[in-house]
Amino acid sequence: MTAIARSLLPGSASVSADGTLSIGGVPVPALATEFGTPLFVYDEQHLRDNCRRAVREFGADRVVYATKAFLCGAMARLAHEEGLLLDVATGGELHAVLSAGVPASRCTVHGNNKSLTELREAVEVGVNHIVVDSFDELDRLDALRAEGLPVPDIHLRVTPGVHAHTHEYVSTGQDDSKFGFNLANGDARAAIARARASASVRLTGLHCHIGSNVLDAALFEKASRVMVDLAVETGLPELTLGGGLGVAYTNPEVAPTMEQWAVAIRAATRSLPAGTVVRVEPGRSIVAAAGVTVYSVGTVKRIPGVRDYVAVDGGMSDNLRPMLYGSEYEAFDPARTDAPRPARARVVGKHCESGDVLIDNAALPDNVRPGDLLVTPVTGAYGHSMSSNYNKVARPAVVFVSGGTARLVVRRETYGDLVRLDV
Ligand code: LLP
Repeated sequence: MTAIARSLLPGSASVSADGTLSIGGVPVPALATEFGTPLFVYDEQHLRDNCRRAVREFGADRVVYATKAFLCGAMARLAHEEGLLLDVATGGELHAVLSAGVPASRCTVHGNNKSLTELREAVEVGVNHIVVDSFDELDRLDALRAEGLPVPDIHLRVTPGVHAHTHEYVSTGQDDSKFGFNLANGDARAAIARARASASVRLTGLHCHIGSNVLDAALFEKASRVMVDLAVETGLPELTLGGGLGVAYTNPEVAPTMEQWAVAIRAATRSLPAGTVVRVEPGRSIVAAAGVTVYSVGTVKRIPGVRDYVAVDGGMSDNLRPMLYGSEYEAFDPARTDAPRPARARVVGKHCESGDVLIDNAALPDNVRPGDLLVTPVTGAYGHSMSSNYNKVARPAVVFVSGGTARLVVRRETYGDLVRLDV
């Protein structure tokens, strides 16, 4: 029955007397008219404020934005302008970030299966450091040194044996993980010894990332303490403690704030020798709540005694999270933002799958009709970045709004784009 919680809306959201939602000073219905739907709308000031909060808490050059959460040229530049380093997990992400004009020296490189080519690219352009994930990768770096490439700075990704208690698919800190060198079985210490003795790499630090959308700050503290002990034991001067700070997606959910996360990290890292560089890699917490998706309702199907279906013009191609992780979202009509939502319906997409369900049992305002807009808030992370062309649906446009103006930062795909790779 309750209206959408204002806390789920981007920071600059405002509602006019007639109930119309504006973001960044621009009415959402006007954005839908100008740019079409589905549309990703980001509150640029909210993005910047989140970057600034992170830098304020952790320090300049101590925050690495995990670009996988949301990446386009404008976002890469924004994070760079705000003083963040950028973490890339593939050659493609590195290419996108460099193309945006971010210097390689501001990039860190991740991935559990970096190819020789990806590693070569990273070393050639001179990234800040590479986070090495496996012994095979150390072999590849030996091969690159044999080619005469410069010696890169590396960190080793350690799996600390701490379970993040998040969805299995995004939990990475436990021993049974494809990521990193396990601490428990001796691999991490063996990798440290090998890297230290190697002429192919310069080992400068350790890394861990226990998982994503973590809602219990105590888990960060637990994993960080394990890593701090290892850093002290090995005397390595840099420690990156990953990302993973969760966000609230629905009215009742509560997540730790950036500041609470920082308190947990500070508590755990207090015993490090002075001068140790401690970094974090937030992704979701920088971008999720700054973004919303605007859909148009296309069809409404009422099945008496069963349920109502409200179909929008996007779906699993622009937000796979409900299907992959069972993630929950809210929806509301931006023309009557504060309206109570007494109706119940399954909000579905336009894909040829029954599983294309954005919200299984959504609270909606009364009498949602074709042509209405529906907004799902907190879609700024892992929506656009995991979008697809399934059913040859064109990916949505992305706009940044600020100070009463909207700028297109990613144009909507065209039918031409959908066949451009055919040969
Ligand atoms: N650092 C590393 C090494 C990571 O693997 C990740 C996320 C991050 C940082 C950023 O984590 P964040 O702060 O965004 O939680 N597609 C999933 C999330 C997968 C995250 C993978 N790694 C989702 O939609 O929930």
